[in-house]
Amino acid sequence: MVPLPRRAFLAGGLGGLALSPVVRGVGRRPDDEAAWADVSAAWDPTPGQLNLESGGVQAPTRAVDEAFLRTWDAARRLPPVHLLREQLPRLEEVRSALAAAAGFPAEEVALVRNTTEALQNVLLGWPLARGERVLTSTQDYWRLQEGLDQRVERDGIGIDRIRLPVPLPPDGEVVARWLGAVRPQTRLALVCEVVNLTGQVLPVAALTAALQARGVAVVVDGAHGFAHLDSSPADLGADAYGTSLHKWLGAPFGTGFLRLRRDRVAGVWPLFPSAARRRDDIRKFESLGTIAAAPFLGILPALDWWRRVGPSAKLARLRFLRDHWLAAVADDPRVRRLTRVEDNGAGAIATLSLPGRDPRPVAEELRRGEGILVRAIVHPEFSGLRVTPNLHNSVADLDRFVAALRRCLHD
Ligand SMILES: Cc1ncc(COP(=O)(O)O)c(C=O)c1O
Repeated sequence: MVPLPRRAFLAGGLGGLALSPVVRGVGRRPDDEAAWADVSAAWDPTPGQLNLESGGVQAPTRAVDEAFLRTWDAARRLPPVHLLREQLPRLEEVRSALAAAAGFPAEEVALVRNTTEALQNVLLGWPLARGERVLTSTQDYWRLQEGLDQRVERDGIGIDRIRLPVPLPPDGEVVARWLGAVRPQTRLALVCEVVNLTGQVLPVAALTAALQARGVAVVVDGAHGFAHLDSSPADLGADAYGTSLHKWLGAPFGTGFLRLRRDRVAGVWPLFPSAARRRDDIRKFESLGTIAAAPFLGILPALDWWRRVGPSAKLARLRFLRDHWLAAVADDPRVRRLTRVEDNGAGAIATLSLPGRDPRPVAEELRRGEGILVRAIVHPEFSGLRVTPNLHNSVADLDRFVAALRRCLHD
């Protein structure tokens, strides 16, 4: 369970950042539409558009957005005072609140703009000699794969990419596949917590322990893990963890964090250089020059919102919504589920393959003809439609989607 101590939020110093009055404590049943309508009212809907594409970037709630805009507005009026003297120093409060919510020591958490920035720092800065190898999967995120490919060209490292079956087999088999690919030269593994293509949740804690026991350090891509799953990222035991807070936490765009285990900090080169005296300081990964504070200060009301909804209540509701639409299409011979949902194998995200069809025109027809946003996934090993409900969606939204999908597939 994510700890989310109340103290962390109070220490976060929310002064001036209004909290949404909407959420009244945890304990809603996942299928209680009236109770969740209360939560979904925290977002501003776009008329005519049904957003089932929360698998990319997510819409912040109105309260987060308003806090962000107020902070931004103050900064733009008198930057030397409001930005430099008042707001940027408060990022230390954000670090503490975020670290407490994630279960990490604050001195291991760097504020960065997204998962890409978090993990390119690690993948490009990790000490690897020519001939040493990184292990990952063909379903890990493409942009991070590009970082590794650059190291192959620049430093002569090697990469092994395993293939994971779709849907994902039981956890033991997944761990065995990864372990089977470890070579004597393998030093590092890049592992996705939740695969963005299918929503599949990997057994990262077991995998991390097994890889570390073989001398392989583990970097976890938590882009879709944090504030989506209700487990604490600290329980994964990884050497490094990166996530984007503009995904499941619903913080302002361009926010994320990197967690690097204390004993690893000094050994990783930051992408943007920092003074040698900061070699052992996690802040060396924040040497970007002048940045806006408003997105990062917007993390505080987003954390508060998440705590008040309740991480477990949120995940249970998301799974309920997912299972509702999956049940409605289960017997349709024109679709096949690519996501294993049994045994907590997934959260909100699920992907359907459309045998014999290209999912791209179907997604386009849903968008143009029906005002429904889902994502077409095209990967060398499979393709499908990815559907990602969020707390702003209802059962009625998913019924509307299923009816529209049936119309689109009827020809
Ligand atoms: C699994 C995964 N990793 C990393 C990223 C990169 O996230 P960002 O673009 O916020 O850096 C994404 C983005 O969707 C993702 O799905």
